[in-house]
Amino acid sequence: MKKKVCSALALLLLGVIFAASTAFAAKVATVDIPVKAELYATAPAPLTPDQCAQCHTSVFGALKNAGGRHRFDCQQCHKTFHAYNPKKGNYDEIMPKCASCHTEIHGPANKDCSACHNPHSPGKVAMTPRLTNTCATCHPAQKEELVKFPSKHSKVSCDRCHTSHGYIPSCFNCHKPHYKDQPIETCGKCHPVHQPKSIHYPTSEPAQTCGSCHGKIFEKWKKTPSKHAKVNCATCHRDKHGYVPQCTECHKAPHPKSILDRFPKCLGCHLDVHDLPSMK
Ligand code: HEC
Ligand code: HEC
Ligand code: HEC
Ligand code: HEC
Ligand code: HEC
Ligand code: HEC
Ligand code: HEC
Ligand code: HEC
Ligand code: HEC
Ligand code: HEC
Ligand code: HEC
Ligand code: HEC
Repeated sequence: MKKKVCSALALLLLGVIFAASTAFAAKVATVDIPVKAELYATAPAPLTPDQCAQCHTSVFGALKNAGGRHRFDCQQCHKTFHAYNPKKGNYDEIMPKCASCHTEIHGPANKDCSACHNPHSPGKVAMTPRLTNTCATCHPAQKEELVKFPSKHSKVSCDRCHTSHGYIPSCFNCHKPHYKDQPIETCGKCHPVHQPKSIHYPTSEPAQTCGSCHGKIFEKWKKTPSKHAKVNCATCHRDKHGYVPQCTECHKAPHPKSILDRFPKCLGCHLDVHDLPSMK
């Protein structure tokens, strides 16, 4: 009886094995792991920047904070990555090339892009000697101005004023105003900073500015009872520092020609333009 059961079980087992071996290929592994073909039905989505960032946190941080217009998919640049092989020394070969997306935007003198730009923080350009020695390759106009109009600023290096790239310094970093409370906005109007000795100003320039250096004339003019007290310094000495006007610019024909022919110098009689004496 026991034997019968045993052989029946053996037959059953053989049958199962037989069935299995006809349904599948011959078993080649020592373990059983069922196939799940559906897992391979769709193409994988490329890793997103935040997925790359799970390992490359600092690169992600740089792009996030200072990536500017480079904040797009990593793979737009890194077509090939995780392919560096020190034996092949292929690092440069697999790294993205600026030239695949950019031209020599600053001219041939500046084609070594990476000397100034980190691709992960492209807008932040550090004040390295590479940059400070070559300002004029990108800003020739300012350099030309400083050379063409020699002043003490021509001897000040660009980066002593522009201490970081694009920074505009205040005149008050290095100078005092001509008088207390003189507004900073006025400085550049008289002194174009790259040619500070080419002084120009409007006729409305406060007399106080002139008075800060020409104190005696300013005091005299302020107190004069004559009508020139109402005429601003800069109305007579217009536009250019040191310009001295002709009286006849404003007084066409104050006296008969016969008198002026004999006494051509107005100030021969009127004495002091800043404090005209009473003629009556
Ligand atoms: C896959 C293309 C691609 C590559 C490679 C690439 N860039 Fe760009 N870059 C761009 C695009 C697109 C912009 C935005 C242009 C625009 O808005 O006009 C840009 C903008 C920039 C900007 C301005 C950044 C800003 O935010 O104002 C700089 C600087 C720059 N790239 C430098 C570089 C340098 C240097 C390299 C090489 C190290 C490089 N790029 C590589 C595509 C690329
Ligand atoms: C605009 C193109 C551009 C984009 C976008 C960009 N990279 Fe890069 N990346 C480069 C270039 C060019 C280099 C080579 C820099 C070098 O040789 O100094 C580089 C170098 C690297 C390096 C190796 C050097 C290093 O700094 O560690 C890693 C890692 C890297 N990138 C990861 C990333 C990841 C991650 C992203 C997205 C989050 C990304 N990059 C986005 C252009 C890019
Ligand atoms: C699971 C972690 C991990 C992820 C995710 C990852 N990387 Fe990397 N990556 C590494 C490691 C590790 C290295 C080698 C060491 C190093 O350079 O930091 C490396 C190196 C690199 C390099 C330089 C060397 C080379 O062979 O290219 C680049 C570029 C790079 N990764 C880009 C990427 C980009 C782009 C992504 C997302 C698409 C990404 N990585 C996702 C771990 C990762
Ligand atoms: C000597 C340093 C230097 C070199 C080399 C250099 N750049 Fe620049 N680049 C700068 C500076 C500085 C800026 C201005 C950044 C700013 O706006 O503050 C700039 C700006 C840019 C801009 C943005 C321009 C804009 O109008 O918004 C791009 C794009 C750029 N560089 C790409 C490149 C590429 C590509 C190369 C290589 C062919 C390169 N740079 C080489 C210093 C450099
Ligand atoms: C590789 C080219 C390049 C170099 C080198 C360069 N710059 Fe620039 N610079 C630029 C670009 C591009 C801009 C932004 C566009 C613009 O306003 O002209 C800029 C902007 C500026 C601005 C701001 C302009 C404004 O109107 O706000 C100043 C200031 C400046 N640069 C000074 C310098 C100084 C100083 C140096 C040398 C230390 C220098 N740059 C070197 C390309 C350059
Ligand atoms: C004595 C300080 C000083 C020096 C030296 C100087 N700059 Fe400037 N720069 C300024 C100031 C201040 C401004 C802002 C002018 C304005 O707003 O009218 C300026 C403006 C600029 C600008 C913006 C455009 C413009 O002209 O307003 C550029 C570019 C520039 N400077 C480049 C240079 C370069 C390149 C050099 C060296 C060759 C240089 N600067 C030397 C103070 C200086
Ligand atoms: C980084 C410092 C610095 C800044 C910022 C600066 N200057 Fe100067 N400036 C100087 C130096 C240094 C001299 C020479 C002083 C001397 O030798 O007594 C000078 C001289 C001058 C002179 C006399 C020029 C000459 O040749 O006699 C004028 C005018 C002047 N600066 C105006 C300005 C104005 C206006 C501004 C702002 C737009 C300004 N400076 C910003 C450093 C600076
Ligand atoms: C109305 C025009 C005017 C204005 C506004 C003006 N300056 Fe002047 N500045 C002058 C004249 C004129 C001189 C003398 C030039 C000479 O000696 O030939 C001068 C000289 C200077 C000098 C050379 C040193 C000195 O004191 O003789 C500096 C520095 C200076 N100015 C800075 C400034 C600053 C900073 C401001 C803004 C607060 C400013 N200036 C506003 C007209 C002006
Ligand atoms: C920072 C001092 C300073 C300021 C501000 C200043 N001056 Fe002068 N000015 C001088 C000096 C120094 C001279 C003599 C050296 C020279 O000829 O440049 C002078 C000379 C003059 C002369 C005589 C030129 C000649 O040929 O004899 C006139 C006119 C003059 N200034 C008018 C003005 C007027 C108007 C203002 C105001 C808009 C003004 N100054 C502001 C310092 C200044
Ligand atoms: C009505 C026109 C007029 C006004 C207003 C005027 N000036 Fe004059 N200024 C002249 C004339 C004209 C001369 C030449 C006088 C001569 O040839 O002796 C002169 C000469 C000067 C001189 C050089 C000669 C000297 O005496 O040192 C200075 C400096 C001067 N003015 C500064 C000023 C100042 C500062 C103010 C304002 C406080 C001012 N002027 C207002 C017309 C004017
Ligand atoms: C920028 C114009 C201007 C210049 C230049 C000028 N003046 Fe005048 N002057 C005036 C004005 C405005 C008055 C006032 C007229 C009125 O209110 O009727 C005046 C008034 C006078 C008066 C009358 C004085 C009074 O108090 O009644 C005399 C005299 C005079 N000027 C002489 C001169 C002489 C001399 C010169 C040359 C050395 C001169 N002016 C240069 C504008 C000017
Ligand atoms: C010979 C001396 C003399 C000479 C030269 C002279 N003046 Fe006079 N001027 C006077 C006298 C005196 C008066 C006052 C008389 C009056 O109120 O009619 C006067 C008055 C004026 C007045 C005021 C007129 C009014 O209606 O209030 C002006 C303006 C004037 N002179 C300008 C000038 C000018 C400009 C010159 C040179 C071209 C000049 N003068 C040359 C003697 C002179």
